[in-house]
Amino acid sequence: PKRIFSGMQPTGRLHLGNYLGALKNWVALQDEGDAECIYCVVDMHAITMPHDPKALPGAVRAAAAAYIAAGVNPDKSIIFAQSAVSAHAELAWIFNCVARLGWAERMTQFKDKGGKDKERASVGLLTYPVLQAADILAYKATHVPVGEDQKQHLELCRDIAARFNRDYGDGQAFFPLTEPVIQGPGARIMSLRDGTAKMSKSDVSDNSRINLEDDADTIARKIKKAKTDPEPLPETVEGLEARAEASNLVGIYAALTGKTKAEVLAEFGGQGFGAFKPALADVAVEYLAPISQEFRRLIADQAEIDRILAKGAERADVIAAPILKETKEIIGFWH
Ligand code: TYM
Repeated sequence: PKRIFSGMQPTGRLHLGNYLGALKNWVALQDEGDAECIYCVVDMHAITMPHDPKALPGAVRAAAAAYIAAGVNPDKSIIFAQSAVSAHAELAWIFNCVARLGWAERMTQFKDKGGKDKERASVGLLTYPVLQAADILAYKATHVPVGEDQKQHLELCRDIAARFNRDYGDGQAFFPLTEPVIQGPGARIMSLRDGTAKMSKSDVSDNSRINLEDDADTIARKIKKAKTDPEPLPETVEGLEARAEASNLVGIYAALTGKTKAEVLAEFGGQGFGAFKPALADVAVEYLAPISQEFRRLIADQAEIDRILAKGAERADVIAAPILKETKEIIGFWH
């Protein structure tokens, strides 16, 4: 059977890239209604980099509130905090002994986030993608909706599953080879200041991204200031090649409205950014305003969010516990 799993780091504030690359597809998959959807707030991943223990619980609640504000329905989908279900940590240890050091060292995210002096990076940062594989396989998830930047981590997840199946599975596919779901023009949203850099929470410039909580004026201002070139928009998608910033803004418009880039260009091709930017700001505000309004309402009710997270952890554990138990038996742990 089809089972969906995905997660986000609790960073306090989600941006348009998180929404268009991941959340929007989480909601679409949930609403298709043919698969169980499990959406996790990955607080264990959040401690691989320096973090503030006092701020973390609130950041987890904020992420859960953002999921719900974006349309994840806690009565249908499971929403929970990773650290509340022990299978993630237990399976991660087993997978640490299945994955090879070379696999982990090849991960570009470790190369980027580890900084210049890798000796000083946490060991957790190196095995971060192994924990991610445990997240997914603890539920034997078949599909994982994510942005383009997670592709390499999902390949590692398949490598771990295949290696486990080969070494211990008696020729049987105990773990599935999980499919990434990376789709549409929203899969890779770039910075508003630099069309070659990913839109990211760690960018020092707040003008580089649109946050889910930005108000209408802020969104309009950021889009107005977004970097562009002086040419009008092309008539065809080929015309966007070598125009990273133009391509990104057209992609954002397309992802927000559910159109293709070609359809957006059929409407705006030949027009300058003076006309296109206000139209883009309008759609962005139209789509994000209800989400940020709902987010603010939800975040005010901490007890309700905690109730949802507690219930979600219970439901997640019911699925993960038997899979973990069987994995431990297969690996030969005392039982
Ligand atoms: P994270 O928290 O960095 O990002 C959450 C999701 O947002 C997507 N995303 C983007 N999509 C398009 N354009 C962008 N500029 C952009 N920036 C972020 C990411 O691809 C992701 O889908 N390792 C993961 C969290 C994780 C996970 C998992 C995901 C932990 N365990 C298991 C799936 C399955 C991460 O750090 O995502």
